[in-house]
Amino acid sequence: MKEESRDLRSKGQCLGLVPTMGALHAGHVSLVRAARQQCDAVAASIFVNPTQFAPNEDFSKYPRTFERDCELLEREGVDFLFAPTAEEMYPEPQVTWVTVEGLSDRLCGRARPGHFRAVATVVAKLFNIVEPEAAFFGQKDAVQLAVIRRMVRDLDLPVEIVAGAIVREADGLALSSRNAYLSPEQRETARVLYRSLMAAKRMFAGGERRTEKLVAAGKGAFSQEPSARLEYFEIVDPETLEPMAEIERPALAAVAGFVGTTRLIDNVVLEP
Ligand code: PAJ
Repeated sequence: MKEESRDLRSKGQCLGLVPTMGALHAGHVSLVRAARQQCDAVAASIFVNPTQFAPNEDFSKYPRTFERDCELLEREGVDFLFAPTAEEMYPEPQVTWVTVEGLSDRLCGRARPGHFRAVATVVAKLFNIVEPEAAFFGQKDAVQLAVIRRMVRDLDLPVEIVAGAIVREADGLALSSRNAYLSPEQRETARVLYRSLMAAKRMFAGGERRTEKLVAAGKGAFSQEPSARLEYFEIVDPETLEPMAEIERPALAAVAGFVGTTRLIDNVVLEP
């Protein structure tokens, strides 16, 4: 991978990286296409990173569709696939970590201690191995995006971070590899995440700027679906993830909840 990357750079070509955990869907594809547009060559990585899953999480049953993923990446014109094994990425137990303080403990980080430390660390490793000029991440994982942007700034990593819009199903459900866990009935239930965000967004469009009211509307809509369990509904600054009282600049409305044992997340940006 390094040889390929250095070879490109010596020819003055720009390499874009799309890091993934596989089980690819149209959300990942949109990032690949953005990378194709902006860069001379595109690398994708597929690595189901064990360290970012807590013991009670879904590492062992996370969907793995490697053959299909390869075909899809080839069809999309990806030049390089970096798909290391866990032994290659972690030949020895990892004792060096990148901790993005504060941000890593907010929203999803509150319920998933250690998760964003592991994400930041594996992404830093991927950047050091692949040495891309630009890396592409989905707005879907808004906390991850904020953590990585901050890591890049704080550590002066020579990578441009590009964000891609959330790709959704026709009914609003954000695409996710974890949607594969949902039964047809749960798939219906899962619509509540987007519905709750839209409830807040409608109220915002009607002129309400107090986040307390908007959060109440979002939570109210969520509670209409008794088969789903809310983890959080918050409105925060998209960069610092600090709560906002009044929306006078773009704000991130983010929701997380469980449908059965499947944890789903979604968000929208509210722009005054
Ligand atoms: P994964 O969940 O496979 O997601 C890879 C990238 O696809 C992330 O940047 C994510 O935000 C983006 N993505 C997922 N669903 C999307 C959607 N519906 N619309 C747009 N983009 C979407 O996120 C990870 O993997 C890992 O944490 C990783 C960064 C690879 C580190 O292990």
